[in-house]
Amino acid sequence: MRPLQLCIVFLGCIVFFPTVARTEKNFVRIRPEKPVVEFGGSVVLNCSSNCQDIGIETTLKWVLLVGNETTEIKWKAFNLTSVDKWTVTLLCFARCATGAAKSHHVNFTVYRAPEHVILDPVPKMEVGKEYNLICRVPSVAPIRNLTVTLFKGGKELQVKTFENFTDPQAREVVVTHGITVQKEDHGEKVICQVTLDLRPEGPLFEKTSHSESLTLAGTSEEYFEVTLFSTEGLPCEARSFCLAKLQLHMQIHPKVMLETTFGREE
Ligand SMILES: *[C@@H]1O[C@H](CO)[C@@H](O)[C@H](O)[C@H]1NC(C)=O
Ligand SMILES: *[C@@H]1O[C@H](CO)[C@@H](O)[C@H](O)[C@H]1NC(C)=O
Ligand SMILES: *[C@@H]1O[C@H](CO)[C@@H](O)[C@H](O)[C@H]1NC(C)=O
Ligand SMILES: *[C@@H]1O[C@H](CO)[C@@H](O)[C@H](O)[C@H]1NC(C)=O
Ligand SMILES: *[C@@H]1O[C@H](CO)[C@@H](O)[C@H](O)[C@H]1NC(C)=O
Ligand SMILES: *[C@@H]1O[C@H](CO)[C@@H](O)[C@H](O)[C@H]1NC(C)=O
Repeated sequence: MRPLQLCIVFLGCIVFFPTVARTEKNFVRIRPEKPVVEFGGSVVLNCSSNCQDIGIETTLKWVLLVGNETTEIKWKAFNLTSVDKWTVTLLCFARCATGAAKSHHVNFTVYRAPEHVILDPVPKMEVGKEYNLICRVPSVAPIRNLTVTLFKGGKELQVKTFENFTDPQAREVVVTHGITVQKEDHGEKVICQVTLDLRPEGPLFEKTSHSESLTLAGTSEEYFEVTLFSTEGLPCEARSFCLAKLQLHMQIHPKVMLETTFGREE
């Protein structure tokens, strides 16, 4: 039994190894496999091969940094000194012993990180009416890796992704979300968060806007201030001053003043 098993294993080896060796024979490799680089930045690529005379073909500027073509696996490292195009394809090639050429190509992911996230100022809102929250991200790329999230009071209002957006160029992204405000929304904070996720090959960028508070029309701070004046019954020798203040606020919210403050003071 033993000799037979050995024989089978041995035969397996004979059949298996030469095929691996044959498919591995001539190769050109590029590292990193999926280069991720900031627009205008530089990146070093390592082309390796078992063939000779390694070279690259690209529309970008490059310099040869270092290499070794005396080893069994030959390689050259190139510095792409300024990646100033949004679409980059690069080819490494080598001349093999058989005379044939071998090549391999990679596409770059060129990015521009989000630097600012701007939430448009929100007006004073009336209950039941619809308003637009507008979040802007100037000049960011690639859009397909972007996620824009609007939060109200810590809860997600909208999560917008762009996975089908193929244009690699940087551009402004604007996300609009319609809200109808309720009484409870008064004082709630709205923020906009942006992530550019280039993982696993590249970095992850996160940026958050300043926060905007939702303010309902007719519930402003001036109004509460006036209510305090009248209920605490301040010694109003400053009566003329109180009146002046009341008048001022009446002009801002005439309806509210008539319904509440005057009624209670009667
Ligand atoms: C380039 O790749 C080769 C083969 O993998 C390796 O031996 C060499 O050290 C690498 N060179 C650099 C600069 O990374
Ligand atoms: C290339 O690699 C061989 C073997 O590792 C080494 O002896 C030789 O010094 C290297 N040549 C250069 C130019 O680095
Ligand atoms: C590649 O080129 C850029 C631009 O000239 C330079 O800043 C960077 O240090 C270079 N990288 C290497 C590894 O030499
Ligand atoms: C590189 O991009 C070209 C054109 O968009 C595409 O046809 C090709 O399949 C891509 N190659 C790789 C290795 O992703
Ligand atoms: C993106 O494209 C895929 C495949 O075409 C489709 O199934 C999906 O619904 C698209 N997503 C969006 C957000 O349009
Ligand atoms: C985002 O970028 C990474 C790295 O370039 C890429 O592998 C990934 O597919 C991208 N994600 C999407 C949704 O396109």
